[in-house]
Amino acid sequence: MGLRVMKVPNLLILLLACGVGYIGMQREDAWYRLTTTLAAVISLAQMPEEKLNRFLWSYSMFQKDQFTGEAGEVDLLTDYYSVLNHLCAIGNFEKMYLPPYLDETKDVYSNQKLYEKKMADFLQLGPGTKAVDIGCGRGRIAHHVASYTGAHVTGLNIDKEQLRQAVEYAEQTGLSGSQLDFKHANYNDPLPFEDNSLDAAYYVQVLSYSTNLEAFFKEVYRVVKPGGRVAFEDYVLGTNYSASNPYHVELKNLYKPVLGGVETSLPEAFKAAVEAAGFQVLYHKDDSINGRQAPLLRQEKDFWLPLTSIVGFLHSMGLVPEVYFKVMQRMTAGTDALIESDELGIVSCGYVTFAVKPTEQ
Ligand SMILES: *[C@@H]1O[C@H](CO)[C@@H](O)[C@H](O)[C@H]1NC(C)=O
Repeated sequence: MGLRVMKVPNLLILLLACGVGYIGMQREDAWYRLTTTLAAVISLAQMPEEKLNRFLWSYSMFQKDQFTGEAGEVDLLTDYYSVLNHLCAIGNFEKMYLPPYLDETKDVYSNQKLYEKKMADFLQLGPGTKAVDIGCGRGRIAHHVASYTGAHVTGLNIDKEQLRQAVEYAEQTGLSGSQLDFKHANYNDPLPFEDNSLDAAYYVQVLSYSTNLEAFFKEVYRVVKPGGRVAFEDYVLGTNYSASNPYHVELKNLYKPVLGGVETSLPEAFKAAVEAAGFQVLYHKDDSINGRQAPLLRQEKDFWLPLTSIVGFLHSMGLVPEVYFKVMQRMTAGTDALIESDELGIVSCGYVTFAVKPTEQ
């Protein structure tokens, strides 16, 4: 399979634009970003159209407010992530989460790194310790945590395509086996670890597809050692959200797809489930400065919306198949609703829960 229609000159234009952008932003990771963008664009250009159409169709899952475990949900999820991960890897969203806005002078990528360090510090990870990254995606967070702390991290994910990316990167950087390994798993099933076998567990914005929050946290509790620490970062409804306000409901329905959000619970529901599992919660808050992520979202909007327009333009010139334009439009739809919701305090993607499994029961 070659690069269908999306001809090499178009790819070069797109990459040149991204490259100039990254270097213009004076990014420390400009070379990594550029090569990752190139690999992502090539993966997308080689993708069968049917797979792109399944991605468009997978958005039907965001009509739900909760996964129930019914047949087909896992297929929608893998159809969604197996394309989305490449799309997100074109830009700052390779790790596919909107971090707490911890430093106003920094972008999404740098704030992600800051949050990951804060999380790893809380988890007290170091050489000889073991952690699990639940819903690890392309394994970049696990890689950062492992290289920052010296710990061993096992990443779990439901999408084999992302796991391949994770393994490849771990191998390229020499951490595969020694500090990183990856397993195919569904976090709604029992976790693939013995009781009391891990020093720490964490996830970053993945619990949106949980069928049962309490059962999930009980599983995490089972696999972590007494005294072990856990860190959860979630997308939640903001505390100003009112289910009886039709405008809030409308905004929520608009922003859920761009967030990848199915589960819609207030932070208290997560905290209650963590406590019901037996953990002692030490820290539970919206971790962004002033509880706002809108400035980060605006920066990202200024990258993704022009990119969508470029793809639309290339399509109008007959240079790119329509499905790519639809995919970009689908991916970015709801961005404005998300920014407005953040400003109203009816959504938060920066809610952090740090907890510990007590040593005495
Ligand atoms: C809730 O809304 C009020 C204004 O109506 C605002 O001042 C406050 O910051 C919002 N709360 C959050 C958590 O965003």
